[in-house]
Amino acid sequence: MADTDDIRDGKSFGLDTPASTEGFYLKGLNNNDWGLKNRLSRIFNKKSGNTVMLAFDHGFLMGPTSGLERIDLNIAPLAEEADCLMGTRGMLRTSIPPTCSKPVCLRTDTGTTILTQMNDNVLIDEVEAININASAMAAMLSVGEKETEAITIANFSRLVDIGNKYGIPVMGVTAVGKDMARDARYFGMASRVCAENGASIVKTYYTEGFEKVVASCPVPVVIAGGKKLPELEALELCYNAIQCGAAGVDMGRNVFQSEAPLAMMKAVKSVVHDGLKPAEAFEFFESLSK
Ligand code: R5P
Repeated sequence: MADTDDIRDGKSFGLDTPASTEGFYLKGLNNNDWGLKNRLSRIFNKKSGNTVMLAFDHGFLMGPTSGLERIDLNIAPLAEEADCLMGTRGMLRTSIPPTCSKPVCLRTDTGTTILTQMNDNVLIDEVEAININASAMAAMLSVGEKETEAITIANFSRLVDIGNKYGIPVMGVTAVGKDMARDARYFGMASRVCAENGASIVKTYYTEGFEKVVASCPVPVVIAGGKKLPELEALELCYNAIQCGAAGVDMGRNVFQSEAPLAMMKAVKSVVHDGLKPAEAFEFFESLSK
C-alpha cells in the first residue's frame, strides 16, 4: 500500500515526477486545455522542445512541383524521420499509409493556385480534420495583401474557433505579400497577427533580426525552408533560426529536393534537436548520403 507522500509524489504510479505537476514545455500554451496540449506534445519533441515538420502541401498551390510528383514514393519513406507531417487531405489519403502514426498538421485552407496568386482561400470542413485525426490544422494569413488580407484573417480566426472547440491547435502560415519587404519588421508583424488571432504555432521565414520576430510572438515559431539551397546553407538556416529562438522547422523543398532526402532529414534533426553546428551536421549528411 503506497503512503500518502508516495501518492502525492506520483511514485505509486511509477513516475519520477508527479504527472499532474509536470510543466508543459511550450511557450505561451500552458493555459490551454488538455486535448490541445496533448496534440502539441505529439508534434514537439519533449527533450529539445522543438519540432521538425515535413511540409509537402505545396501541390495544392503549385501542382506536382519537383520532388513531389509522387508523394507515395518521395515523401512516405521520409515520414518515420519527421516529427510531424504537413500535407493536404488529398495527399494524405492517397499517398501516406494510414498505419503511419506520425502526427499530422492538416492544411485546412484552399481555393487558389500560383496561376492567379490571389490567396483568396476558404476553409475545408472541420470534420475532415477530425476524420483524418489531425494533431494540428494550418491556414495561411495573407498579411499586407490588399485584396485578401481580410478574408484570410477571418478564415484563420474561424479556424481557431473550431480548433478551440475540439482541442486542435492551429498553425498560422504567414504568406509573403507582394509589396512587403521580407524583413524582421514584416515577418514580426505577420507572426504577431497570427498569435493575436489565437495561433498555437506560427510558421514564418527566417530573416536577419529573427530573434525580434521570436521575442514578440508569444507562441512557438517554426521556419519554412523556402527555395532549395545547397545542403550546408540549408543547415545554416536551421541553425541560425534555432539560435534565434525558433522552435523548429516546417521544411519541404530543402528536404525532398535534396539529392539525399533521408540523409537531409536526419541532418536537419541533428541541428534542431541535438544542437549540431552546421558544419558538423553537413558532415553527418555527407556520411549518411554516401
Ligand atoms: C507552401 O505552400 C507551404 O506553406 C510550405 O509548407 C512551406 O513553404 C514550407 O515548405 P518549404 O520549406 O519548401 O518552403
